[in-house]
Amino acid sequence: MKLTLKIWRQKNAQDKGRMVTYPIDGIDGDMSFLEMLDVLNDGLVSRGEEPVVFDHDCREGICGSCSLQINGEPHGPDRLITTCQLHMRKFSDGDTIVIEPFRAKAFPVIKDLMVDRSAFDRIQQAGGFISVNTSGNTIDANAIPIPKNDADHAFNAAACIGCGACVAACKNASAMLFTSAKVSQYALLPQGRVEATQRVLNMVAQMDEEGFGNCTNTGACEIECPKGISLENIARLNRELLSAQLKG
Ligand code: SF4
Ligand code: FES
Repeated sequence: MKLTLKIWRQKNAQDKGRMVTYPIDGIDGDMSFLEMLDVLNDGLVSRGEEPVVFDHDCREGICGSCSLQINGEPHGPDRLITTCQLHMRKFSDGDTIVIEPFRAKAFPVIKDLMVDRSAFDRIQQAGGFISVNTSGNTIDANAIPIPKNDADHAFNAAACIGCGACVAACKNASAMLFTSAKVSQYALLPQGRVEATQRVLNMVAQMDEEGFGNCTNTGACEIECPKGISLENIARLNRELLSAQLKG
């Protein structure tokens, strides 16, 4: 396939940035999207030009780092996959592909297509954990009976990989889907109930402090989420938050 790539290049957070056009040839439909970018970068390096910086690690849909806006959609045109799982067969010979970083005030650009998503880490640090008594009297987690339905919902919430596509898809750059997945993961389990009140208050306060926008129930986050995290989690977060505030 012959393609035209329009790629966002930006030296650092202060630079204004610009789109640069790169023609590319010899792309096979079986290549992954990131492999296609590797081919582009090999060519740039061999011509003495700076390669395009993009984030990636596992390349198998687990780490959440390969966050690219492709033709206006987080993780590109497919559903329920990350950018590293997207294959070039999804595109046609002669296509123009526009590749940008995830855009949100809370995700400043580090360079080119790589953004700083440490705001998510700080939301996690504000409450994404449980405290366990390790004095020798710890109850084995598997010895605590949990209704199957609750375990399934907690597991589904825990599937969030922190990629940030929900933020990039949202017109308000809201992090509610991410935060609600993290809150739900614990709220549904007895181990997480102990600190549930403080957890939701702290995580939501951190989310606001990081500069993410508010949720207006548009639902774009759920559509673009590669892990199928449901809006039900946002409803649960709102219930948890209201109950924590009333206790407050
Ligand atoms: S909720 Fe979905 S889109 Fe948002 S960070 Fe988690 S996995 Fe990514
Ligand atoms: S590189 Fe890890 S999810 Fe894509």
